Amino acid sequence: MTRSGAQSPASTDRHVITREAYGTDAHLAARQRLYQAQHPRHDLPAIAADHLAGANGIVADIGCGNGWYLRHLRQHRPDLVVVGVDLSAGILAEQRPPLVVADAQALPFASGSLHAVLVMHMLYHLPDPDTGLRELARVLTPDGTLITSTNARADKRELDQLWSQAAADVLGLPEGPHRISLSQRFPLDDAPARLARYFDDVRLVHLPGVISVTEPAPAIAHFASYQAWAADSGVPFEPTLARAEQRLTETIERDGAFTITCQSGMLICRTPAEPRT
Ligand SMILES: C[S@@+](CC[C@H](N)C(=O)[O-])C[C@H]1O[C@@H](n2cnc3c(N)ncnc32)[C@H](O)[C@@H]1O
Repeated sequence: MTRSGAQSPASTDRHVITREAYGTDAHLAARQRLYQAQHPRHDLPAIAADHLAGANGIVADIGCGNGWYLRHLRQHRPDLVVVGVDLSAGILAEQRPPLVVADAQALPFASGSLHAVLVMHMLYHLPDPDTGLRELARVLTPDGTLITSTNARADKRELDQLWSQAAADVLGLPEGPHRISLSQRFPLDDAPARLARYFDDVRLVHLPGVISVTEPAPAIAHFASYQAWAADSGVPFEPTLARAEQRLTETIERDGAFTITCQSGMLICRTPAEPRT
């Protein structure tokens, strides 16, 4: 199976998103924790806030999850009205208002009413990211700012290899299926061209880093956070998780650490004066 073959239809399924994957922030938080060991560490909410220096009025964080960006913006930009939006009511439970439960593809905002939107690590959950991009262009003011983020195809490739090897062991095959890769529906590699269909002045900020894990737990918790999509993984999930932990433990005992190469990025663009069709 190719890497692109590991896109999960369930990664866009509303029921899976709202009940299993993001019913609470447990799985998202497990993925966020892995980045605490990244070098260099990137303060993503601060980087996004820098690009909102000229913004005023209403800013919406669409797919805000557990509010990492919301908290930073509300603390550092009290002059803005920062609205958190997510498809999952459950993940918004701990957030402060204003909050809206809504689908990024049909936003309950008037056309031209938002001065900026954030859509961080989220567009790849849409069945058709272009539908979402058109909707975002609609709700933004002319010359409004859109900030988004995603991962490159080669992001965390060492984890992909580890999972495939573990899956191969479990299945008794020379090569196992790739793990579910959410960002493949909207990878960083393609994002500038896709955004340029609807927005002007697309700028890409690369955010590379390396994570060196010296114990298996954070990487295994990262794998386990994909449990909502286990049925699409093409392999018994729990046994593969256990085998990956064995392999990772052996690697760390032998080499002292397991290195993961991160390739993500943030994109900043502007709404054109005249909407594109
Ligand atoms: C990977 S998390 C990213 C959370 C946050 N933006 C961050 O970067 O930390 C994706 C979020 O998008 C939300 N989401 C998925 N599909 C959505 C949709 N169609 N409309 C709005 N939110 C959606 C999920 O519930 C989840 O909270």
